[in-house]
Amino acid sequence: MTKITPDQYRVFGNPIEHSRSPDIHHIFASKSQQIINYQKQLVAIDGFSAAVTDFIHQGGKGANVTVPFKEQALALADELTERASLAGAVNTLTFEEGKIFGDNTDGEGLVQDLLMHGVILKQSKILILGAGGAVRGVLLPMLAQNPNVITIANRTVSKAKALCRHFDDERLSACSFDETIGQKFDLIINATSASLSGDLPSIPASIITNEIICYDMVYGKNETAFIQWAKAQGAKQVIDGLGMLVGQAAVSFAIWRGITPNVKPVIEKLRATLNKT
Ligand code: ATR
Repeated sequence: MTKITPDQYRVFGNPIEHSRSPDIHHIFASKSQQIINYQKQLVAIDGFSAAVTDFIHQGGKGANVTVPFKEQALALADELTERASLAGAVNTLTFEEGKIFGDNTDGEGLVQDLLMHGVILKQSKILILGAGGAVRGVLLPMLAQNPNVITIANRTVSKAKALCRHFDDERLSACSFDETIGQKFDLIINATSASLSGDLPSIPASIITNEIICYDMVYGKNETAFIQWAKAQGAKQVIDGLGMLVGQAAVSFAIWRGITPNVKPVIEKLRATLNKT
């Protein structure tokens, strides 16, 4: 019997130890009868381009890219999708026909997770908290869902305004946290890095109604400060970012393998592992 050599994939980052991407992609592969080998690779801060070149020479088919190399991945790609180009960051590289193709699947991962939770994005009013790379990475796929309004509120308002100029879409507007008072939204997405340090962006409690859905791009074993706060204010539904993580991986997998995997069992499995740690 001939032994099939698995196609090789990587996730490059620094740090990388805690990446769940190899587990996620191996589950996708086993459930869809694909034979792949996906490894995480710690890359020296000044070694990204060399690591990618080495991997291509070894026959690598594709790679995910995480902090702090997403901008370098953008620069390295020969061809970019529009969403990656506007995001200013690449998290998915595909090596084909001697070329490097760059894409960004974060926004589509978020959109798919929201839709899976039954959130209606069409004609909705969305408030996004934060104006960093995480927001820039998701805006184009969010706009493609045809919301009525996306308001970007940030502690540093000038950054939110710069994002609006960058995307140049009349449905986008920028404001401070305080300026959200009196406005009505269907969905609030926390894309600040505040949750990573257990902090809460200082938004007024009055914007939380019993009809609002609150999403935190961060996830963890325990509920994030934002999720706890939103629940305490009486939000209709709260969702954390675990599904976005699996969703962005699913879009990468589909780009590489031509098969869209089922995310639900993977999310459940990861959630169970989180609860055990
Ligand atoms: P990322 O790539 O995760 O978006 P980033 O580009 O450093 O990281 O952006 C972090 C975002 O979280 C910014 O919008 C930041 O607000 P400022 O632009 O005012 O710095 C926001 N942020 C971080 N900690 C915060 C906090 N404690 N309260 C409110 N916003 C916070």
